[in-house]
This record gives sequence, structure tokens and C-alpha cells, in this order.
Amino acid sequence: MLLPQFIREGAAALEALYPPQEARSLVLRLCEDLCGFKSYDYIVRPELEAPEELVAGLGRLLAGEPLQHVTGWQEFCGRRFRVGPSVLIPRPETEQLVRLAEARKPASVLDLCTGSGCIAWTLALDLPGCRVVGVDISEEALAIARAQFDGGPDFLQADVLAPPEPAVEPFDVLTANPPYIRESEKARMHRNVLEHEPDLALFVPDDDPLVFYRAVAVWAKQLLKPGGWGIVEINEELGDQTAAVFSAAGMEKVEKEADFLGKDRFVSFEKKL
Ligand SMILES: C[S@@+](CC[C@H](N)C(=O)[O-])C[C@H]1O[C@@H](n2cnc3c(N)ncnc32)[C@H](O)[C@@H]1O
Repeated sequence: MLLPQFIREGAAALEALYPPQEARSLVLRLCEDLCGFKSYDYIVRPELEAPEELVAGLGRLLAGEPLQHVTGWQEFCGRRFRVGPSVLIPRPETEQLVRLAEARKPASVLDLCTGSGCIAWTLALDLPGCRVVGVDISEEALAIARAQFDGGPDFLQADVLAPPEPAVEPFDVLTANPPYIRESEKARMHRNVLEHEPDLALFVPDDDPLVFYRAVAVWAKQLLKPGGWGIVEINEELGDQTAAVFSAAGMEKVEKEADFLGKDRFVSFEKKL
């Protein structure tokens, strides 16, 4: 099949799953990310054939798989991160958390619930000499995190809901993007997230949605240096309650921060000197 026909028919078929604009941009990204075709190639070189790889990729998108699982990567802070069914696909709002952490110029960072390692790796690569440790409960996620690039952070398996082992050396900065979507919010979510991203990375019980933040506050108390700083990504509907968790744990300068859509998306705090 010729590329223009593939794009036209592929976008139309994907409209069964996505709004028209998104369906079209998904097909164009598939063409670029799998085969290197630019978004204008089908116009300037209409004689191009759609390779078999592209047809198979479209089949996977039509079966509801996220584009990133078909291509195997997602860009985050300018680098390509490997992704798969055992890790959350890095989201653009999390880039802001990384930039806020980088602005502190830390010499050491502890990244809880590290998943693909996108936060830990970006900090390690952008801040040469910075000691970075990433923690996750999932060995499958840690295997992906360790394989992203050469060198970089230490990745350790631990349950953040349990108290931490004492650190030999406490950290300047703590980052965490823990699970924060309530089970009841599933009804509002897209099928490709529900069926293809890990529940372990996403969901918390409706009756205790802040369970991870109480646990992060315990880790922060034990593993941050006096005067150390932390930042967590949060559920936009629970900003005040999440901030209150860190205040109740004795943290100072507890502040909410909005994301690029103006939604409460982060809470930062400082450990007392
Ligand atoms: C929202 S994802 C964040 C992944 C990555 N940091 C990011 O920002 O894209 C949450 C991560 O928490 C991990 N996780 C879930 N329960 C955990 C627990 N009890 N202890 C440690 N990590 C946990 C999941 O495996 C998942 O990788």
C-alpha cells in the first residue's frame, strides 16, 4: 500500500479509539518513529510504499496498545527512554519535577518509585558527579531502569510503604512520583492506559489515596539531610490534602506547584535544619 493511502486509512480506522486529531498524529508519529518518515514525506514523495513493519505497528495501535509500546521508547527531557508493560510511560508533566529538582543543584538525590528511571537518569546525566539512587518495588521495572544507559544511578529494590534502611550518607534532594490515581478514577481513563500500563504504577485505594505520601514523608525524615529538599508529583484533586501530609510530618516550607496546565501537580518541602 502507498504511504498516503496508509496514513489516510490508518487515521480513519484509529478514530474508533481516539479523537480525529490524535488519531492522525498517532499515525504520523508511527511513520516517523518506526520508519523515519517525516510528517510531510507522504506529500512530497507520494510514491513511497508503507513497509510491512508499519502495517504491523498500526495493527497494534488498533488493538489498543500505546504508541510507545509499539516503538519501545518515549522521549523524556530530551532523551529516549525504553518502556514496556512493566513501567509507566514517562509523562510530560514529570519533566517539570526534574527541572525543579535540578534547580537545587543537588550533590545527591534519592528517587522513590523510580519506574523506568526517567527522573533518576535525567538528574544523573544532567548533573555530572551527582550521586543518584532510584528505588522501586518492581524488579521488572528496575531491570528496565538499569538498562536505559551506561553508568548512572544505583537502582535498588525496596517497598516504600515499609520504613527505609538507614542511609550511610543522607541525601540533598528526594524526588518521588508515586502511584496516586484513585481506583474510582478508572472510569475516566483511556483504555490504552488501563489495559497496557501497570496497575502497580498507577492506582491507590479510594479509602487511602495518600498512603504513598505518608510513606515518602517517613523516608524523607530519615534519609534527607537537615535542610534537604523534596518534591513529589501529586493527584491534582488532592493538592491541599497532600501538602497537609508533609506539614503534619514536620516538614517546613511546604508548597504546592502547578503544572503547565495550571493544575496542582507537585508538592515541595524542606526538612528542618
Ligand atoms: C507513577 S509510577 C512512576 C514511575 C517514574 N518515576 C515516572 O515518573 O515515570 C510509580 C512507580 O511506583 C512503583 N511502586 C508501586 N508501589 C511501590 C512500593 N510499595 N514501593 C516502591 N515502589 C512502588 C511502581 O512500580 C512504579 O514504577
